Amino acid sequence: MSNDPWGQDVLVDFEDGIAWVQLNRPDKRNAMSVGLAREMSATLDALEVDDRCGVIVLTGVGEAFSAGMDLKDFFRATDGVSDVERMRAYRSTRYWQWRGLIHYAKPTIAMVNGWCFGGAFTPLICCDLAIADEGATFGLSEINWGVIPGGVVSKAISTVMGDRKAMYYVMTGEKFDGRKAEEMGLINEAVPADQLRARTTELAKILLGKNPTVLRQARMAYKYARYMDWEQAAEYLTAKADQTTFVDPEKGREHGLKQFLDDKTYRPGHGSYVR
Ligand code: ACO
Repeated sequence: MSNDPWGQDVLVDFEDGIAWVQLNRPDKRNAMSVGLAREMSATLDALEVDDRCGVIVLTGVGEAFSAGMDLKDFFRATDGVSDVERMRAYRSTRYWQWRGLIHYAKPTIAMVNGWCFGGAFTPLICCDLAIADEGATFGLSEINWGVIPGGVVSKAISTVMGDRKAMYYVMTGEKFDGRKAEEMGLINEAVPADQLRARTTELAKILLGKNPTVLRQARMAYKYARYMDWEQAAEYLTAKADQTTFVDPEKGREHGLKQFLDDKTYRPGHGSYVR
């Protein structure tokens, strides 16, 4: 019997360093329930120290990435319970949907294979990169059923979408497709459905080829520096660069400089040093 924390609302398959993490409630269009939140939190926690996982791809089983928060679990079922119980239900989503995901130790790619509504924007945006089927359907549908984009959705969209676009979709609840999501910067790229997995695999393999310590430090440095002013960022990034050299067991900086300046065997502008 496996000790893996996934297997019910979350499925995980490993393939050459890629952990394909699938939300698995296809009958409910992968709406994110309290149970799914707990399983995803435990799954992320376990994969962070699992050597089979070098990159996470987050996607959904069936025709949806995710239809957002499970409205039964998080709205109907929390009406009439105490504030504390309601807060505990909401808190169950925070680690996996954003707090843990933003600062996750391994690179993350969201692969949007279909419906993506409301609360699903949070993990989508908090993954490092995102690719979608160009025919996928996105929507900030909250206004359509009488609530605001809460949780942390309004904050999340403000980090990737321009204000005019974000406000338009917050206020109208209109749907848009993968191509539009790419144009607005919500995702990196949209591809035809039959190329989605192949392109995602290709991108994951590029990341797997990089020095994992430097890649982790680069991701974190970007995510923290963007909220600092220039002076703070300069100090922080200088210290972070020194720390990266210090903690990198591969000594990437040393090899990179030597192979370029002394051996003249590669050019960083064209590609990576030989690891
Ligand atoms: N919460 C709870 N149950 C859901 C959700 C959801 N977010 N989305 C779908 N389901 C359930 C449906 O109630 C239905 O359950 P049932 O079989 O017990 O009746 C089942 O999943 C299948 O859904 P259908 O609506 O029948 O599927 P269809 O393919 O026709 O439509 C679509 C898919 C467009 C995604 C539709 O289900 C939908 O509009 N879902 C809600 C989207 C949404 O607004 N999400 C909330 C965003 S706001 C937030 O996250 C806080």
